[in-house]
Amino acid sequence: MSTRLMTAADIREAFLSYFESKGHTRVASSSLVPSDDPTLLFTNAGMNQFKDCFLGLEKRDYVRATSSQKCVRAGGKHNDLDNVGYTARHHTFFEMLGNFSFGDYFKKDAILFAWEFLTVTLALPKDRLYATIYHTDDEAFEIWNKDVGLSADRIIRIGDKGAKYESDNFWAMGDTGPCGPCSEIFYDHGDHIWGGLPGTPEEDGDRFIEIWNNVFMQFNRTADGVLHPLPAPSVDTGMGLERISAVLQHVNSNYEIDLFQHLLKSAADIIGIQDEGQPSLRVVADHARSCCFLIADGVNPSNEGRGYVLRRIIRRAVRHGNKLGATGTFFYKMLQPLIDVMGQAYPELEANKARIEAALIKEEEQFAKTLEQGLKLLEGELANLQGKVIAGETVFKLYDTYGFPTDLTADIARERELSIDEAGFEVEMAAQRQRARDAGKFNVDYNSIVKVEGDTQFDGYDATQGQGQIVAIYKDGEQVDEVVEGDEALIVLNQTPFYAESGGQIGDTGIFKNETGIFEVQDTKKSGGAFVHQGIVTVGQFKASQKVEAIVKADIRANTAKNHSATHLLHAALRQILGTHVQQKGSLVASDILRFDFANDQPVTFAQLQEIERLVNREVIANTPVLTEVLDIETAKSKGAMMLFGEKYGDEVRVLTMGTVSDERNFSIELCGGIHVKRTGDIGLFKIVSEGGIAAGVRRIEAVTGSKAIETVQHAESTIAQINGLLKAQKDQTLEKVRATADHAAQLQKQIEQLNQKLANFQATELLSNVQEIAGCKTLIAQVNNVDAKSLRHLHDSVKSKLDDAVIVLVGTESDKVSLLASVAQVHQGAIKAGDIIKHLANELGGKGGGKPDLAQGGAPMNDQLDVVVSGLNTWLSAQ
Ligand code: ALA
Repeated sequence: MSTRLMTAADIREAFLSYFESKGHTRVASSSLVPSDDPTLLFTNAGMNQFKDCFLGLEKRDYVRATSSQKCVRAGGKHNDLDNVGYTARHHTFFEMLGNFSFGDYFKKDAILFAWEFLTVTLALPKDRLYATIYHTDDEAFEIWNKDVGLSADRIIRIGDKGAKYESDNFWAMGDTGPCGPCSEIFYDHGDHIWGGLPGTPEEDGDRFIEIWNNVFMQFNRTADGVLHPLPAPSVDTGMGLERISAVLQHVNSNYEIDLFQHLLKSAADIIGIQDEGQPSLRVVADHARSCCFLIADGVNPSNEGRGYVLRRIIRRAVRHGNKLGATGTFFYKMLQPLIDVMGQAYPELEANKARIEAALIKEEEQFAKTLEQGLKLLEGELANLQGKVIAGETVFKLYDTYGFPTDLTADIARERELSIDEAGFEVEMAAQRQRARDAGKFNVDYNSIVKVEGDTQFDGYDATQGQGQIVAIYKDGEQVDEVVEGDEALIVLNQTPFYAESGGQIGDTGIFKNETGIFEVQDTKKSGGAFVHQGIVTVGQFKASQKVEAIVKADIRANTAKNHSATHLLHAALRQILGTHVQQKGSLVASDILRFDFANDQPVTFAQLQEIERLVNREVIANTPVLTEVLDIETAKSKGAMMLFGEKYGDEVRVLTMGTVSDERNFSIELCGGIHVKRTGDIGLFKIVSEGGIAAGVRRIEAVTGSKAIETVQHAESTIAQINGLLKAQKDQTLEKVRATADHAAQLQKQIEQLNQKLANFQATELLSNVQEIAGCKTLIAQVNNVDAKSLRHLHDSVKSKLDDAVIVLVGTESDKVSLLASVAQVHQGAIKAGDIIKHLANELGGKGGGKPDLAQGGAPMNDQLDVVVSGLNTWLSAQ
């Protein structure tokens, strides 16, 4: 057997393959940004993406799954940020290996799989393993004891800490959602490390480490705290890849595993220090993972929500780098080392490289500016500080004016044995929120501005015009009695035909008019039950209580309705073609385009897209009536209406039934409050215009309908017509002619290369006359114009074949680029190395390059000093 230790990548693969061999489907990690789950800030466990499968709300093609899930625990309920760097096992980002059963196998198989994987596949010594169980879980005890053969003294029962189920061995995703008793597996790192078994006072030590949690999912906890049994008992497990790697690589700290060693070493190189044991270096290495992965998944540094957590992590990393002596932007350079170790398993890193780097550089630069000013302010405050607590007001000012996250201020305080007044800071924050509300900016946060009694009645399902009475008018965030020409305002009516943005459909536009004026409605949104029309008075004035004629722009509305109905048909077609795992993750219905985001791990192929288009258009052509019914929720369910998880539905729902009937079911049945066409034929034509990924496991399709669809098709045709014109091709010859042209171009390219070879030979012979002797070596230095790197290489090979035992340096120029190439024959490599020559030239020219002692290459941007540098090479070589 090989003695090579398994790398983290090996272990990840071994785990997934093992569970595949046990009938599990390998599922890609979901995005770090949970889709459609407002209860979560970031994905924090492997089971997140399967939440609906456990709850019985989603059926997939498989009942067993395995994954390696990207997780972030920074911010929100599980926040490890402050500990990172100072402990052996805290991370902002980690990978969770997991196996899952959705109503298939339960406790016994879960435990037997875990045991076999650990002790057979990974060959861990059995006498190092312990299991914990929930104190009343006798079934789990029997399995461990009888089926596995673990002695009773190695099975530890863990009870409740307070209320029932408040136990380390009862796992819950959050305050609500799937949960159940669990059994954890512990590894004994050996008695040379301090620590005790779980349940003992020394359990927090580093000796006995939990490596795998097997959760026996049995309940769904609702917001009222009640546990409802799940449709079927299920299994959710999680093993930290970093922890199990530490075990198999015989190290106690996660930071000593191969993956982190590479990151730490790279961080040390980037910052320019030798000592790889610094806690701050661990902070940089750890934070690089969460930051790069979060940006890859679409989070951007900002002042709110997820973006703010990301900003805090980046800034913390930068500050720790600065503490170690890093200057200028450096953190973004961690991306490449991260790609080295994780890029293969997570291609999104490489795919988003440019975007990740740009976001990090921007944030680093911005932070550098504010840091300098903020530190000055802080130093000033610290100089005058009485006592050991930094005032909340100062912490707030640093946050508000200088963008200092509070934990950064707390970090600096901690280094000086001070603390911050968190309560005081919160008071300042609350005051700021109030100020923001009071400012009542136009177009923001209607909910804090609009306060009206009673709901607006919506009259717009069948009409685009109607009467309404003004209930309230708001200007600059204040309620007013009157608005006049030029005023921007929000107007609420008692009844309106204007659709207010919801369910993905944008709000209507149009006008209000009466004898006193005209109000142009630019958008309509809901604030509670009130419909708020946002716009500008273009003529005259309006007063509260006046009646108005409300007129929706009917053509825009009609196009929006086409797109909305087409969205339902698209949703149904996707489920038919790709499978019922296709879950809606978001949608936008505007007048010119429809956009539909849905869960699917793979890109949709061109053939599938065509099939989907065909299916939707088949429904359009069938021209069936669109049926709208208001039903009670139970009837709607029994009718088979698709419901979106996470949406709140009332007792009565509006059900849209569309399309042809097969197997006694209409093509599409969905709950929806939006505006739709009367018959599917009104859609005219449906055409997909793009398909792409927007986050891991989430795809987006954009499509157009009606005259927009015709325009799209005509545009494509006109492109082909223009191509035909250029190729002098008849209508159906395009492909043939393009192929012939491409073949011809390839042939020409080949000929050019052959000619270049010949030319190089000629040039080489000419160049030989320039051979000179420098420091006892036969040396050729030549600058050749109009050659790129490839031709330079050809030229070199020709020269070399005619010149034995020489040093050859060729500099090629082509438009704004300089290519460099050097070779040194073996006999001279003691005196000079090709790599050093190129490094020297690249350095002088502001370029890059390097290589081996015998051959090296490089490049640089065109430089005024090129002639000087090349002619100075003689002298430089003589001095070597
Ligand atoms: N979901 C379980 C955990 O995170 C496995 O520990």
